[in-house]
Amino acid sequence: MDDKIKDLTGKLRLAHLGGGQIRIDKQHEKKKLTARQRVMYLLDDQSFEEIGALVMHRTKDFGMEKQKFYGDGVVTGYGTINGRLIYIFAQDFTVFGGSLSETHAEKICKVMDLAVKVGAPIIGLNDSGGARIQEGVRSLGGYADIFYRNVQASGVIPQLSAIMGPCAGGAVYSPAMTDFTLMVEDTSYMFVTGPNVVKTVTNETVTSEELGGASTHSTKSGVAHKTSPNDVECLEDLKSLLSYLPQNNTETPALLPFELQDEVRENLSTIIPDNANKPYDMHEVITGIIDEDSFYEIHKNHAENILVGFARLGGRSIGIIANQPLFLAGVLDVNSSKKAARFVRFCDCFNIPLLTLEDVPGFLPGTDQEWNGIIVHGAKLLYAFSEATVPRITVITRKAYGGAYDVMNSKHIGSDMNFAWPSAEIAVMGAKGAAEIIFKKEINASEDKEAKWKEKEAEYAELFANPYSAAERGFIDEVILPKDTRRKLIKAFAMLQNKDVDRPKRKHGNIPL
Ligand code: COA
Repeated sequence: MDDKIKDLTGKLRLAHLGGGQIRIDKQHEKKKLTARQRVMYLLDDQSFEEIGALVMHRTKDFGMEKQKFYGDGVVTGYGTINGRLIYIFAQDFTVFGGSLSETHAEKICKVMDLAVKVGAPIIGLNDSGGARIQEGVRSLGGYADIFYRNVQASGVIPQLSAIMGPCAGGAVYSPAMTDFTLMVEDTSYMFVTGPNVVKTVTNETVTSEELGGASTHSTKSGVAHKTSPNDVECLEDLKSLLSYLPQNNTETPALLPFELQDEVRENLSTIIPDNANKPYDMHEVITGIIDEDSFYEIHKNHAENILVGFARLGGRSIGIIANQPLFLAGVLDVNSSKKAARFVRFCDCFNIPLLTLEDVPGFLPGTDQEWNGIIVHGAKLLYAFSEATVPRITVITRKAYGGAYDVMNSKHIGSDMNFAWPSAEIAVMGAKGAAEIIFKKEINASEDKEAKWKEKEAEYAELFANPYSAAERGFIDEVILPKDTRRKLIKAFAMLQNKDVDRPKRKHGNIPL
């Protein structure tokens, strides 16, 4: 028996070494942790249980039968994060560059299947040179097996991805189908085709970082939801993100202990400038409303005219969607509509109530927007809100103009409670533009056109640049003092917590894509 125990211990020791010490040192030289170190850092002490440590590839081509490593380039298993069960796979770049073979894919599929059966989140730490080139189509099949599972698990369990090294070719589509993709700055990149292929096909010269680094994907493309300066901070970000989420779609996120006190926040009264055309930072409104330091912003540097993220309000996990007057006056455009729609749908999948903070002058005009399909992308947000059955509350802080008023979680599309501050202006458009259109003849016929315009602008503003016309009709449930917003919201979300909406049976809706 001793020999057999020694034999097993030896095999496991080798498995722990992955591709060997030289390759581990190389990984460290690149300021990257190894797959195993990442898993150990992310999970609670002593909680990791490995599955498939002794799996090896089955390839005999290209002399591969002589190059075998236990684990085959991916560490898989389960453990806990802050006491909560999660499943994990971490690609090991020290073994064939973390490339995905048939067996590597089978290991990932095994933990994904368990995660769905048990109902717990799955986390993927990606660091891979892509399909195992020596395996050809078997490796491509492996990817597709994972993609299929990503889709089956979507909306059932949270799926989180961290990109901590290369992620190229077909490999990008698994993270893209998970709920959130985090990237490490400078050491990770994602692209469908690399700089060499780009040069050959389009004659563009571009570096990997420019083409698909963390900064590109967190600003231009929006593929990355968050970036972190190094591996450790990325893993910390994953832990924080998880804290806002439930285990699966049948549960609600954990409610932290909270006792209602006066909850008055005087500073909310001084944020909105007197001049309606002056910007202000919607972050200040968010900070004034939520529990201290609890905003976890998603897509911080992408489509900055809308803010989305998780927060806690009276201990409750909520999702926030807020127009940001600091950028493009907070208009809705192609990117902000997509960003917000995706977030709304995630929250709705996982029973996270939605808070909308609204200050929107409308949709961004122009050929660029129209030709890029603002109609269909704006419709995504409208659709996402309309189909959401979680508790939904809106606070209009200032402008709620035109079709954007309807889209931003209006009462008409199923919002549960709609509040407005006294500074709210709920109208088809701003008073100046409205006066120019509807009183055009009168203004033109007048001797002092400017004075007439001002008079008509004031007339329109008097009627519509306020929340009262909407409140009279019940489109606004209550006009509230800004300082009372936090208390009103805490109570309203508590009131709505047992909301239960049944939709007619159907296969699935047809969201405009
Ligand atoms: N299949 C099999 N082995 C691979 C691999 C792949 N897709 N990608 C990398 N490897 C192996 C390398 O042969 C090397 O093996 P070694 O340790 O025995 O020398 C090891 O992984 C590390 O690769 P290396 O190229 O030395 O690392 P790098 O950091 O310089 O470059 C990449 C990383 C990912 C840019 C580079 O390896 C690469 O371009 N890989 C191929 C990417 C690709 O086209 N994939 C298929 C498309 S899906």
